[in-house]
Amino acid sequence: MTPAVELPQPSAAALAVSAELTRVIAAEIRAAGGWLDFARYMELALYAPGLGYYSAGSTKLGAAGDFVTAPELGDYLARALARTLRAELAELSAPRILELGAGTGALAAQILDALADLDVGYLILEPSADLRERQRRALERFGARVEWLDTLPAEPIAGAVIANEVLDALPVSRFARRGERIVPRGVVASGAGFAWADGAERRDLADAVGSIERALGAPLADGFESEIALALPAWIASVGAALERGCLLFVDYGLPRREYYHPQRSAGTLICHYRQRAHADPFLYPGLTDVTAWVDFSACADAARATGLDVAGYTTQAQFLLATLAAEPPSAGVDAAALRARSALKTLLLPGEMGERFKVLLLRRGRRARAEPLPGRDLRSRL
Ligand SMILES: C[S@@+](CC[C@H](N)C(=O)[O-])C[C@H]1O[C@@H](n2cnc3c(N)ncnc32)[C@H](O)[C@@H]1O
Repeated sequence: MTPAVELPQPSAAALAVSAELTRVIAAEIRAAGGWLDFARYMELALYAPGLGYYSAGSTKLGAAGDFVTAPELGDYLARALARTLRAELAELSAPRILELGAGTGALAAQILDALADLDVGYLILEPSADLRERQRRALERFGARVEWLDTLPAEPIAGAVIANEVLDALPVSRFARRGERIVPRGVVASGAGFAWADGAERRDLADAVGSIERALGAPLADGFESEIALALPAWIASVGAALERGCLLFVDYGLPRREYYHPQRSAGTLICHYRQRAHADPFLYPGLTDVTAWVDFSACADAARATGLDVAGYTTQAQFLLATLAAEPPSAGVDAAALRARSALKTLLLPGEMGERFKVLLLRRGRRARAEPLPGRDLRSRL
């Protein structure tokens, strides 16, 4: 396949994995009659056993990988999350934190360090075998305090569920408005690779887009294309059910519905990452490229309320970090480390970087005697 954007050439071994995954997906497309919903394509591209992006052995995170996340830029996000977690866990006895998709384990280590004085157990649910291995190495020093789970806990926990940049990895369906119709955009075989194609109208998709349009108060324009995570409500319900009492904290790039489906965003929000390059072609190097979509935080809030959770806070990452870090004593001196930290802070805070694109959503289950607000400007009215 010829890349439409300039990307570094993968190694022969990586290309072989990608070619094998391409064969697996092509076989599923044939078995499905020649067309596959994009959500299923994304699921295979990310999670096909032994071949998908999160199931095979690519480096993924960090400078040598495909993208850099906030925990890889220092412990700012961890310190801010730890401050909120400290307040949220204060009324619970023997609380536990469950982190979904812990990446390299950096956030877990930073949070455990920041909460070293608390007796809190740390659980990790990580679908990627090789990331799990990286986490084991990174978290060795915490011993039995950290435990890995294969599934969500059967017995709901009292504590907190946290996830940074995990919601964006949930498979999304893509759709387009064509006149009166909402059509699913799916995947067909094309040459040695794949291409987009309209599929037959589907009631579940048309209903879900219909309720978005009702909430927006107007139909989407003809030709408008975007994404919708049809599985999100069930996912939030199952993750929420893992929590008997406490909170969920999601950090991710995303928008409220009104901005997500804004007329100017008529090409959708899909974004792929390969070796520090962001591009928009999910069919390039299947299995070697991370495929993500922005998060519709209004949909998250609706799904949370539907499963009995309170939407207790919503703000931008910049607001959240500034409000938290401003409360900390300043660190002394301007050495090389401080300068590096300053440049990382810019990435985390600037509006064109992570500061405004990333949001923090706080959900709660159970009454609290003293519930503190999420640090930063309260933006819940935008959801
Ligand atoms: C973009 S990385 C973020 C990693 C880490 N949280 C960080 O901030 O560096 C996405 C992580 O989510 C994991 N993941 C993907 N889908 C998941 C799911 N459905 N449930 C839990 N974790 C998932 C991946 O294996 C990976 O660890």
